[in-house]
Amino acid sequence: MTHKHRIADLLNSESPLEQITVQGWVRTRRDSRDFSFIELNDGSCLANIQVIAEQTIPGFESITLMTTGSAISLRADLIASPGKGQRWELKATRLELLGAAPEDFPLQKKRHSDEFLRTIAHLRPRTNKYGAMFRIRARLAQAIHDFFNSRGVYWIHTPVITGADCEGAGEMFHVTTLDLAKVPLQDSKVNFDKDFFGKEANLTVSGQLSVETFCLSLGKVYTFGPTFRAENSNTSRHIAEFWMVEPEVAFADLNDNMALGQELIKYLVHFVMNNCADDLDLFARFVDPTLMQRLCNIAGEDFPRVSYTDAVSILQQSNHNFVYRPEWGKDLQSEHERFLTEEYFQRPVIVHDYPKQIKAFYMRQNDDDKTVAAMDVLVPSIGEIIGGSQREERLHKLETRIIELGLKPADYWWYLDTRKYGSVQHAGFGMGFERLLMLVTGVSNIRDVIPFPRTPRQLDF
Ligand code: 4AD
Ligand code: MG
Repeated sequence: MTHKHRIADLLNSESPLEQITVQGWVRTRRDSRDFSFIELNDGSCLANIQVIAEQTIPGFESITLMTTGSAISLRADLIASPGKGQRWELKATRLELLGAAPEDFPLQKKRHSDEFLRTIAHLRPRTNKYGAMFRIRARLAQAIHDFFNSRGVYWIHTPVITGADCEGAGEMFHVTTLDLAKVPLQDSKVNFDKDFFGKEANLTVSGQLSVETFCLSLGKVYTFGPTFRAENSNTSRHIAEFWMVEPEVAFADLNDNMALGQELIKYLVHFVMNNCADDLDLFARFVDPTLMQRLCNIAGEDFPRVSYTDAVSILQQSNHNFVYRPEWGKDLQSEHERFLTEEYFQRPVIVHDYPKQIKAFYMRQNDDDKTVAAMDVLVPSIGEIIGGSQREERLHKLETRIIELGLKPADYWWYLDTRKYGSVQHAGFGMGFERLLMLVTGVSNIRDVIPFPRTPRQLDF
């Protein structure tokens, strides 16, 4: 196989190159009398490379078919560009049309609305903006693995199909092989005994419970994979299928957990600024002019920490006109979270020690009997990006809480076992990967940071 060059590498070449093969998609073509200019993009980077093709070269007879969107292959020399703004260009010696794109190729003009591009999610990564988005997404996913790997934290593959409801919120998708037209019933309830697993099964809402068992074996672990929530909320920050990063650390407490959350976010913001500069610049110029300032702000100082109780006082004393009145014991609304991070602290903020009645059963109960050792990291323009806690490691307290919340201890027998055998203090959190992407790109709709978004009544791709 002949060596094929990526445009990203060619544009950074140290020297001219002779007779190389380059393949990509035509962005635009201009014809003059004796030659044509092609702006070629292969997806390896934001920039196109300019190709000059003289009329006399083999393959030129197909030039009129090399329209916007067409795939082509060429042999060329990489030469210093006489033009402004680019260091290198390609002087083609042979052209080949690989796949034509007729006139109905939908990405003819330069700018399209995000809404329109969502209707062609299979083609939107061919645009500058979505190419940049999905390169950043790929690099950041890798950076997450690098972050944990370099700190001796093991990646655990937790199951996608589960029998347990981690968050106890019941917003789960069923997994079944039953014939929905004739569901077997027993006492007018579905008889899951006849189903594939012989019991009710769901798509996971979080890998936490599974990863905790590995935390209490391998010490420091994380899971990073798709999670599913059937909440019918059509907001710009919720999606039915999203990716979550969930570290879990043995012998760690709430303070360690808050420190890890801050370290992870800072690391990833640094990473994207240092490694994705060209793609990031697109978002800073065309999507959110305040982006770079916000990222510098996040990468800089520590995130202030405030207890839920103090946060509620701040909100109540703010004179801000909230739709929902802030009240101790109620969950913070997104407007409250955004006020705290955008206006009051003007930086990411960690809220900790929430009332136990609004948090999940596994969070460690504080001595005041009212709050749990929970923490949420809130960031400007998004609100909650991380949710986590120190875990209840005391068997009796955990069991009692499960019963209080109307859950069945028998359903959690293996989870409870970890509190029976060598139980220790431990803590962890979940960071929504799409919310991280919204944070680092300034893109305000979660549907635009995931390749194929799943939302209520939307499953076209
Ligand atoms: O706060 P959540 O629900 O926490 C958990 O699931 C814990 N079990 C995690 C843990 O401690 N291991 O979700 C964690 C994060 C949220 O802060 C948010 O960033 C993201 O997951 N998230 C969503 N992202 C997109 N769409 C949704 N529907 C989301 N629900 C949660
Ligand atoms: Mg949460």
